Amino acid sequence: MIAYAASGSDHTETEDGTTMANMARHVVKKLIGLTKGIRVPHRAFVSPFASVERRVKVTIEPGARIGRGTRIIGGDTMGRVHLGERSAIESGCVVRVLDGELTVGEDSTLNYGAIVYGEAGVRIGSRVLIGNHSLISSVDHTWEGRGSVFLQPMREAPVVIEDDVWIGAYSAVLAGVHIGEGAIVASHSLVREDVPPYAVVGGTPAKLIRYR
Ligand SMILES: CC(C)(COP(=O)(O)OP(=O)(O)OC[C@H]1O[C@@H](n2cnc3c(N)ncnc32)[C@H](O)[C@@H]1OP(=O)(O)O)[C@@H](O)C(=O)NCCC(=O)NCCS
Repeated sequence: MIAYAASGSDHTETEDGTTMANMARHVVKKLIGLTKGIRVPHRAFVSPFASVERRVKVTIEPGARIGRGTRIIGGDTMGRVHLGERSAIESGCVVRVLDGELTVGEDSTLNYGAIVYGEAGVRIGSRVLIGNHSLISSVDHTWEGRGSVFLQPMREAPVVIEDDVWIGAYSAVLAGVHIGEGAIVASHSLVREDVPPYAVVGGTPAKLIRYR
C-alpha cells in the first residue's frame, strides 16, 4: 500500500518515490481509458482525442500509445484490437476492424495517418514500422464483368506482416498479402503479392529491388 506524504505540493514524494503529480496523471489516464472501454496499463497512453467505437474491444500493453484523432471503428458484432508493449498507433490513424481483429506485436508503430481495414484480420509483428499514410487492407472490392463495383461482394483475406518489416510512407498492402520478416517496402508502393523475408520491394505494383 502506498503511503502519501502530508504536504499539498504536486511534487511531494511518496515513500516509494512516486510524486503526487505522477499519481494524478496516472489516475487521469486511467479515467480517459475507462471512457473508451480501455484498461490503460503502466506507461501506456490513450489520447482523450482518440475515438473508440463501443463494439471494439481494445487491449493495450504497458508503454503502448494511441494518438490524438485516431479512430477505431467497429461494426455490428465485436471486433478486437490488441497493441503490444511500447507499440503505437500514432495520431490521425483510422483502424476499422468491424468484427475482425488487428493484432500488433511489441515496439511496432503505425505512423501518422495510416489506415488499417482489419475485418478479415491483420497481424503485425514486432518492431514493424508502418510509414505515414499507408493503407493495410484485408478487404477489397470484386469487379466481375461490367457490373457496378458498388453492388458486387467484397473479397476478404487476412494480411500478415512479420517482425522487423519497414513499410515506406504512402504504400498500400492489399488483402491476402504476407510480408516476410525483415522485408522493406519502398515508399508509395502497391503490394499485391507476398514479399519474401529480407526482400526490398518497390513500385506500383511492387517488384523486387534486391535482397538485404
Ligand atoms: C526502398 C528504399 C529504402 C531504397 O533506398 P536505397 O537503397 O537508398 O535506394 P536506391 O536509391 O539505391 O535505389 C535502388 C533501386 O530502388 C528503386 N527505388 C527506390 N525507391 C523506390 C520507390 N519508392 N519506389 C520504387 N522504386 C524505388 C530505385 O529506382 C533503384 O532502382 P534501379 O536500381 O533500377 O535504379 C527507399 O527508396 C525508400 O523508399 N525508403 C522509404 C522512405 C520512407 O517512406 N520514409 C518515411 C518514414 S517511415
